[in-house]
Amino acid sequence: MTFDLFDDLPPNGPASPAIEPLADGAVVLRGLARADAEVLLADVQAIIALAPWRHMITPGGLTMSVAMVNCGTVGWVSDARGYRYDPVDPLNGKPWPEMPASFRKLATTAAAQAGFAGFEPDACLINRYEPGTRLSLHQDRDERDFSAPIVSVSLGLPAVFLFGGMRRADRPQRVRLAHGDVVVWGGPSRLAFHGVAPLADGDHPLLGRLRINLTFRKAL
Ligand code: SIN
Ligand code: FE2
Repeated sequence: MTFDLFDDLPPNGPASPAIEPLADGAVVLRGLARADAEVLLADVQAIIALAPWRHMITPGGLTMSVAMVNCGTVGWVSDARGYRYDPVDPLNGKPWPEMPASFRKLATTAAAQAGFAGFEPDACLINRYEPGTRLSLHQDRDERDFSAPIVSVSLGLPAVFLFGGMRRADRPQRVRLAHGDVVVWGGPSRLAFHGVAPLADGDHPLLGRLRINLTFRKAL
C-alpha cells in the first residue's frame, strides 16, 4: 500500500480550475490544460513531424533562444524583414500544419472561462524553452484585431511568467506557471507587456528538461 500525498485530489486536478485575476482582462486558469496534456503533446509531435523547431532571427539580427513553430491558418514569423503572420512556413514553402481540434477546443474553453466567449484562434505559436531560455518583455501586436484575447498554455517545466503593464517600463508581476496552467489576457490587458524569465532546470515527468508553451491568437 502506498500513501500518496495527493490521494484525495482527482488525478487530473480540480474539475473547474481556480481563476486567478492578474489584471483587468487578464487571468490565470490553474491546471485547466492538465487533463489534456498528453493529447496536446502528441499533437505537438505530429506538428513537428511536418514543420520542425527553428530559432527565428529578430529584425535586429539576433537569434531567439526560444525554439518555435506554428500551426493554423497563419503562423508568426520573425526575420530581417520584421515580424508578421505568414500562411506558409518559410522553411519549406508549405502551409503551416493545421490546428489540431484539441488545441482549438482548449483555447476556446479557456477564453470563455476568462470572459471572452466566441474566441476562434487562427494561429498558434508553439514555443520550446530549455533551461536558461528566456523571452524578453514584448507586446503581442502583430494581429489585425485586438478585440480577441491571447490564450497561453504552459506544459512541462514550470516558468516565471512576467506580466507587466501597458508601458515597457512598468514593473512586471512574476507569476509562477506550472504544467497545465493557462493565462488569458485581453480587453484592457490585450497589449500588456509580457515575457518569460530564464527557465530553471528541472525534470518533468512528461517533458524532461523542457517547457512547451502554446500561444493562441486571432491574427487575421
Ligand atoms: C509568448 O509570449 O509568446 C510566450 C509566453 C510564454 O511562453 O509563456
Ligand atoms: Fe507574447
